[in-house]
Amino acid sequence: MKTLVIGTGGREHALALALSRDPNVTEVHAAPGNPGIAAVAELHDVDPIDGAAVADLATGLGVDLVVVGPEAPLVAGVADAVRDAGVACFGPSRRAAELEGSKAFAKDVMAAAEVPTALAHVCETPDQVEAALDAFGPPYVVKDDALAAGKGVVVTDDRQAAVEHAASCRRVVIEEFLDGPEVSLFAITDGQTVLPLQPAQDFKRALDGDAGPNTGGMGAYLPLDWAPDDLVADVARRVLVPTVQEMERRGTPFQGLLYAGLALTSRGVRVVEFNARFGDPETQALLALLATPLSSLLNGAATGTLQDVGLPQWKDGTAVTVVMASAGYPESSSKGDVILGAGAADAIEGVDVIHAGTGLDDEGRLVTAGGRVLSVTAVGDGLEHARDRAYAGVDAISFEGAQHRTDIALAAQAGKIEL
Ligand code: AMP
Ligand code: GLY
Repeated sequence: MKTLVIGTGGREHALALALSRDPNVTEVHAAPGNPGIAAVAELHDVDPIDGAAVADLATGLGVDLVVVGPEAPLVAGVADAVRDAGVACFGPSRRAAELEGSKAFAKDVMAAAEVPTALAHVCETPDQVEAALDAFGPPYVVKDDALAAGKGVVVTDDRQAAVEHAASCRRVVIEEFLDGPEVSLFAITDGQTVLPLQPAQDFKRALDGDAGPNTGGMGAYLPLDWAPDDLVADVARRVLVPTVQEMERRGTPFQGLLYAGLALTSRGVRVVEFNARFGDPETQALLALLATPLSSLLNGAATGTLQDVGLPQWKDGTAVTVVMASAGYPESSSKGDVILGAGAADAIEGVDVIHAGTGLDDEGRLVTAGGRVLSVTAVGDGLEHARDRAYAGVDAISFEGAQHRTDIALAAQAGKIEL
């Protein structure tokens, strides 16, 4: 099978890497890609949110399957354009991607499908904002209704900061605070059949101890030994299946990757958010342990034949991924800082260096080109082993202003996660 991956980030590198190792895949193309993806795929220069250009590239290359990685092209309708051109595409339509593109839409779907989530008010005026903040009390949760790459959410005890964030957005969703550990659970779906993957944990805050601002994600790991045994079955029954059925009922079937961001609260599982694509960096860790050929899952979803694929199979072991970000992230980022040691880190047993915001400078040196620069993904026998390998990789890599969290999966390793 010939495949084309759309996007430039760590998730797309992880997808392209898994496809390059998949026995059923003969060619991996990517657009626009990055220097890490270039090592496992042939790169093409295309604007990833230009549906007609992506469709032309896919038909020109004669690929069998297009995989759209990020949310922006999905919300822009790139998957629709590819399918209209007669090419199978993994990823929801523009309308189905609203599940991620609009928090208000997602809340409406959840209400209709009786999916457990935080109580919320959609606010467009300062008066509505004040009333909603007072109704819930601190900690305040204020979410930009528009796509914000995981950075549009402010959770704070500071009422003034909550008001200011709301004022900076056109429309916000203000909701009740959810306590308890967070879990990311992804499902592959063709719009009918729903195949959950393994739950993973992501680290959203920039700094150790879950301090600092929200980011796109600073690290991840799985499996979650501390999670309830029935978590996947419970979430499939109460969240994933009803949501997919509700999308079908609305005439906007959801096909692709349904990402449920969950809080395991004292009152049970609650959905924090939906995304319409693989999570980053959870995907880096998940795909490191996936035993089923990735192409069969993606193609099964894209062609409506997921029922024939069977439940995803997993390798033994533990996967940990640690993100290295450039100076200033998440408020800003630093471009052009020379990255040393990526090859040495990649050579460590069990380690893959996954590129996100990397580029090449005029002299062909690997440099930073974004906020999240790369992630070091390691598999091992248990958390201690996998963490040791991941952090050995991180220690081997250096660039000016590099920052990373030192406590990815540490609480789980120490048995300190409480439900
Ligand atoms: P979102 O973009 O909706 O995933 O929000 C980003 C992050 O903000 C989440 O991963 C949580 O860590 C935090 N967050 C969002 N909503 C809530 C909530 N209702 N209660 C507590 N934390 C939340
Ligand atoms: N890891 C969070 C996200 O992909 O949105």
